[in-house]
Amino acid sequence: MSPVVRPAVAILLPDAEAEPVALELHAGGFDPIFVRHGRELAETLALRKEIVLAVIDPEADPDNAPGAYGAARPAVRTIPALVVIDEDSLDDLETAAGHPDDEYVIRPYSAESIRWRIEAMCIRSAAVDDGSGPVLQGEIDQADWGRRGKVIAVFNPKGGVGKTMVATNLSAALVSKGQRVLLLDADTVTGHVPSSLGMEGVPTVVDAWRDEMEGGPILTFDQMASVHTSGLKVLPLTSSPMATELLEPQRVAGAIAVARRNVDYVVIDAHPSYSPLNRAMLGKSDTILVPVTPDMPAVRALVQLREVAADLGMLERIVLVVNRAASGISVEDIERSANIPAYAQIRSAGMLMVQANNEGRTLFEIGPREKITQDFSTLADRLLGVAPAAEAIRPSMRLFGRPLTARA
Ligand SMILES: Nc1ncnc2c1ncn2[C@@H]1O[C@H](COP(=O)(O)OP(=O)(O)OP(=O)(O)O)[C@@H](O)[C@H]1O
Ligand SMILES: [Mg+2]
Repeated sequence: MSPVVRPAVAILLPDAEAEPVALELHAGGFDPIFVRHGRELAETLALRKEIVLAVIDPEADPDNAPGAYGAARPAVRTIPALVVIDEDSLDDLETAAGHPDDEYVIRPYSAESIRWRIEAMCIRSAAVDDGSGPVLQGEIDQADWGRRGKVIAVFNPKGGVGKTMVATNLSAALVSKGQRVLLLDADTVTGHVPSSLGMEGVPTVVDAWRDEMEGGPILTFDQMASVHTSGLKVLPLTSSPMATELLEPQRVAGAIAVARRNVDYVVIDAHPSYSPLNRAMLGKSDTILVPVTPDMPAVRALVQLREVAADLGMLERIVLVVNRAASGISVEDIERSANIPAYAQIRSAGMLMVQANNEGRTLFEIGPREKITQDFSTLADRLLGVAPAAEAIRPSMRLFGRPLTARA
């Protein structure tokens, strides 16, 4: 009988992390092999063919420039790696540089979770075959890390302009077009997305992070979210304005950056203010969708918002949506006053909206053929880059004599 060779896993991690990970992997039947830098990893791989996987932190490699993931990865391109990173490094990650089966784990993590992931990666790559078939001991994050969903913040520091209504029904429109959408109720003061969708008592981010502090699992926003009957994933930050101390702005923004890897769209319904939390979330957003109603206070607030957005370098990401269009000040006058072209218009829904709120359903569920529903469909098509099919309220909309061009 030939001796059983334990599959080996190369470990390139900061010292404090390497040891507990090695102990866990050893307990899991792997042979852990420590390496200190990228060159040593390449040399070891050339010599030791029993190494099937690597656990690496590109930033722990002294051969590597800080953040330059691409420089270290070619050394281990021959085998898949479980790459350990900080949330902050996520956006800089050059996924093309590694092996196609690379997977990622974000700090903080437990050594045990690394073992589960390594076992699952082995099973997937058929590196370990004991004949008993795949036995996964933990929940495996199957995210496709090469992809990056879009983040749309629905924002206006003015209250009552339709942010929540637009965020909810735009999300529903995107879901109806086959998109995976996470709707984040980030109104920590008066948020009511779940109740307007008939979802009572849904778990919040504060619940999950409290649980995590008490030894519970580390979950992504996508995993924390509850699924509405429409298929929309819904996650409130908190259920109480008094319980927000855990919602540290950078942590929330980092979690949004992680969540976007698991869905096509993260739609954020924000509280009306320039709070540090809002500014952190706006910083992570590809599009800042600003609903405005056709009345003077709202237009005045829009003029101010434009100035603030310019100061914050966010003007290019602003997309103006005129809500309750055709019920007051004309769209041309709003555009002219704020010097921002209208990207889309949503008409007034009348009783349909009241019915939707009462029934806890979206416009797409109760009135798919209604005109306001078509307005949302047109808005979603435009964001998706599909030519709008529905009739516009004002088809030949022009700004200062020029036809409007699409942005975002
Ligand atoms: N186009 C519309 N047709 C009918 N009702 C609407 C429309 N837009 C908004 N509403 C209603 O107006 C009210 C205010 O809208 P909403 O709550 O979405 O505003 P908001 O900007 O999120 O407010 P807040 O700043 O308080 O969060 C709600 O009752 C909503 O259902
Ligand atoms: Mg709101």
